[in-house]
Amino acid sequence: MTHKIAVIPGDGIGIEVINEGLKVLNCVSELDPNIAFEFTHFPWGCEFYSKTGKMMDDDGIEKLRKFDAIFLGAVGYPGVPDHISLWGLLLIIRKSFDQYVNVRPVKLLKGAPCPLKNKSEKDIDMLFIRENSEGEYSGSGSWLFKGKPNEVVIQDGVFSRVGCERIIRYAFELARAQKKSLTSISKGNALNYSMVFWDQIFNEIRAEYPDVTTYSYLVDAAAMLMVTKPERFEIVVTSNLFGDILTDLGAAIAGGMGLAAGANLNPERKFPSMFEPIHGSAPDIAGKQLANPLATVWSASQLLEFFGYQQWAERLLEAIEYLLNEKKTLTPDLGGNAKTAEVGDAVVQFLQQRYG
Ligand code: NAD
Ligand code: IPM
Ligand code: MN
Repeated sequence: MTHKIAVIPGDGIGIEVINEGLKVLNCVSELDPNIAFEFTHFPWGCEFYSKTGKMMDDDGIEKLRKFDAIFLGAVGYPGVPDHISLWGLLLIIRKSFDQYVNVRPVKLLKGAPCPLKNKSEKDIDMLFIRENSEGEYSGSGSWLFKGKPNEVVIQDGVFSRVGCERIIRYAFELARAQKKSLTSISKGNALNYSMVFWDQIFNEIRAEYPDVTTYSYLVDAAAMLMVTKPERFEIVVTSNLFGDILTDLGAAIAGGMGLAAGANLNPERKFPSMFEPIHGSAPDIAGKQLANPLATVWSASQLLEFFGYQQWAERLLEAIEYLLNEKKTLTPDLGGNAKTAEVGDAVVQFLQQRYG
């Protein structure tokens, strides 16, 4: 089957890591006669903005709509204000295509560095389900009396019943299918509307899943527990902002930003879903072949899983784990001195040798 994929490398290291992700996906389609990809590249991002004043074509969303999935590097670069670049590309895609589920594994692979004392792979194996369409990142608010002494800004947190129910239900379904516990992370003690509502809906839906063990933590305590007792967490469901912050913390305990992947899903498949590493464009190392492409390879694995190629999804993780243990071809963030492209080549070589 041929899958039509829109490729948006974006900015900074996004361009370098996407190259390696594509190498790996091409390798999979060469090794498996049942899988084919048709890639279409879009040169959107901050450089495009500096030439056109826009982050993507005016009909960019219409163009993307006809694809089966989007494979994205990273967005944002010094020179363009971050709220302009991100709302002009990444966030508008997530919103327009109702990619309301953000799946982010926080899983310590064997061989990956972990800064936590006495913790190993069996302790750090979580799956974050981050609400990805509303909440604190609804993009709604107002800026009153701009520049005046009585200036006021209001940033709305939007928590709809439909929005909360669907993400919490998605997480319960996963927990049930995988026979894992589900932890909700919120902040009802201070956020006396939004998070009280979230907790209420979590409790309502919980009644439908008596077979699932549940926990509820306040976000501040959860941040502490992720470091001291990460083994407490299996499937986790949380809001847009908390999920954003806690998955960077998750990356830090599971090998770093170079290994952290994310899938932005529209589970109903009415619109394309989007696969990306969770890191940014890393201007500090961009253009030097220093970026670790393994997070992007992991998001390619999520893409394969989404299309039903579970076995290939697992093989990509096996390849990552192989490189981590072999310790010969790793980028500097993982203590090696390999270039970005060499890591992509090593993944391809592993797949060819083992499954070719
Ligand atoms: P960042 O993730 O780009 O970088 C944080 C740190 O992690 C940097 O020191 C960087 O060198 C390192 N790092 C990140 N990815 C790495 C990789 N693959 N290999 C090795 N090291 C890696 O976050 P930032 O510096 O806060 O943001 C930079 C820009 O990216 C900003 O414009 C920001 O808005 C944007 N951003 C975009 C996305 C996205 O497109 N999904 C996500 C986060 C930040
Ligand atoms: C992420 C990023 C984005 C987010 C930013 C760049 C808008 O941090 O994907 O984690 O907050 O969702
Ligand atoms: Mn983030």
